[in-house]
Amino acid sequence: MTYENILSDYQNGITTITINRPSKLNALNKATIEELHEAFKAANNDNETKVIIITGSGEKAFVAGADISEFANFNIENGGKLAAKGQELLFDFVEHLSTPVIAAVNGFALGGGLELAMAAHFRVASDNAKMGLPEVSLGVIPGYGGTQRLPQLVGKGRAMEMIMTAGMIDANTAKDYGLVNHVVTQEELIPLTKKIASKIIRNSTVAISKAIKAVNANYQDGVNGYETEIKQFGDCFGTEDFKEGTTAFLEKRKAEFPGK
Ligand code: COA
Repeated sequence: MTYENILSDYQNGITTITINRPSKLNALNKATIEELHEAFKAANNDNETKVIIITGSGEKAFVAGADISEFANFNIENGGKLAAKGQELLFDFVEHLSTPVIAAVNGFALGGGLELAMAAHFRVASDNAKMGLPEVSLGVIPGYGGTQRLPQLVGKGRAMEMIMTAGMIDANTAKDYGLVNHVVTQEELIPLTKKIASKIIRNSTVAISKAIKAVNANYQDGVNGYETEIKQFGDCFGTEDFKEGTTAFLEKRKAEFPGK
């Protein structure tokens, strides 16, 4: 599929999806959200793709937010639909993918940009990155899951302060807060992210997808995370990856996971 607003590139088990609207600081308009949905779906369904990296093009921004020009004239109904559709197509969709998603935050990650990074399974940032949820400065609140995922990642008090002040934090503060796992120079960002991805790729993709399900269960209303863990743990014993992983260990050799 050809995309107008994003790039998708496959190499060595990793699909890198790049939001490519640098003149608009990669702001998320409707078309970009739809293309991202298709690209994430395709990468998740592709057996060769073991890890997905999401990043932004250019040196300035990961994503500077939802495209303000698109919703400036919306009414109450349109506003609600915008948030619901976006959460369904992109933010919840990414969080629940069975393939690991790493956000490589290469600059401004504001509003919907930070919300997209937070929907990823974890984040790596370049030292020029700036993160925030500036929505209340526009008279609106985060609508793509930011009020839920930011407190999960940084704690309620810090999230409240970030949301209420509409301020930005730098990459090192984000690391202190636990919002990003690593901070490196912009040149090192993709190489480090790929290095982490290559460590993930050595492991059982089937077990990883079950681990994602179990971890995410902790954050879902009405779902018992411990019960989910027991079920996913038990199911591992019926997989070829489990047989190969345990056999390889006992035979003192490197596992060659079939991914089944
Ligand atoms: N939606 C739509 N367009 C956006 C955008 C957004 N969220 N963020 C940036 N852009 C556009 C600007 O309008 C500008 O377009 P133009 O050249 O056609 O006028 C272009 O991207 C470059 O942005 P600019 O503001 O000139 O860059 P800057 O370096 O002066 O400032 C920011 C960078 C990130 C501080 C500033 O762009 C900004 O505050 N963006 C909005 C952030 C925001 O509130 N996001 C939450 C949305 S809910």
